[in-house]
Amino acid sequence: MTDFDQIDRAEVDATIHAVQAEIGTSFTWDYERSRPGLSRLYSKAKGSQWNATTDLDWSIDVDPERVSADLGGSSPVGRFGHLVDHPDSPVRSFGESEWTTVGVELQNSILSQFLHGEQGALLCTSRIVETVPWIDAKYYASTQVMDEARHVEVFARYLDEKLGRQYAINPNLKALLDDILTDSRWDVTYLGMQIMVEGLALAAFGFMRQATNEPLLQDLLRYVMSDEARHVAFGVLSLQEYYGGLTSDELRERQEFAFDAAVRLQKRFRNLEVWERMGVDGQAVSDFLDTHSYEQADVFQTMLFSKIVPNCKKLGLLDAADGWLRDRFTEIGVIQFEDWVDTAEEYEALDEVAADRAG
Ligand SMILES: [Fe+2]
Ligand SMILES: [Fe+2]
Repeated sequence: MTDFDQIDRAEVDATIHAVQAEIGTSFTWDYERSRPGLSRLYSKAKGSQWNATTDLDWSIDVDPERVSADLGGSSPVGRFGHLVDHPDSPVRSFGESEWTTVGVELQNSILSQFLHGEQGALLCTSRIVETVPWIDAKYYASTQVMDEARHVEVFARYLDEKLGRQYAINPNLKALLDDILTDSRWDVTYLGMQIMVEGLALAAFGFMRQATNEPLLQDLLRYVMSDEARHVAFGVLSLQEYYGGLTSDELRERQEFAFDAAVRLQKRFRNLEVWERMGVDGQAVSDFLDTHSYEQADVFQTMLFSKIVPNCKKLGLLDAADGWLRDRFTEIGVIQFEDWVDTAEEYEALDEVAADRAG
């Protein structure tokens, strides 16, 4: 056992990140199961639990260089392909071996951010158990706490055993998670986590699952996505009811929170930590990406919003307060997803755990 007093203070500071918040914990004495949508979701969650130790084949050998090659498609690193040979590129001097390293580091970084985001989800969901005033939501949120513990477990194990390297949390993701956890309004925990962070994660997991041929990562993402679809649906079903009763000014505050979150989430996929590790000025890469559009990068950045936009529409957030959020999503070029299926409608179809058990 470690003697806490003997641990170097700086090491503790580096390992633990405390977020201060004033939150109200709510009991409810109304045990009536009055929300059938949430009740159905809870029942689904109880039946689709899986075991990270026994339901995935951890004996599979993983070659990080092969995994990274898959990420790139036809060019070394796919969405960063224009950095390879553009005359203004700050990494113009990189040769084949540097690009292979970029691919490996990118994979480590993306999966590390998934890991840290999963821990954020674990904390947010345990918060929701305390703060949400409805019994059906407390029941459901408690199943999500278990799901998120499992997700932290699988990403941590994959990084540790299969890739061998882990990145610290990206500053944009960290600032967003801090803001979500600092806010005392219970619905903002849902909006920040279930709608924005998890909505984006669901799209990003889907993208990576399609891009990779590595069987363990494919299975891992397949099962994590089954859970994530329920989590996003939980946000949609809960907030749909609550936002129906808010004023235009209150909804405008939520719109601004959502858009701010969207911008920071998009920025984190610049993966500046990777360029810094490669010995390059991250700001120079960021400036290049700002000023040079590239089709594969644009498709990726846009696709990240394919779940967020229809879910915001279902919540009435696009058109509340004179359509403020519709205007913002139009400006950043993602409004075309508004009529795609929302996650409250599709979560059952995405339950691969149930499909495996039935088959
Ligand atoms: Fe998760
Ligand atoms: Fe989740």
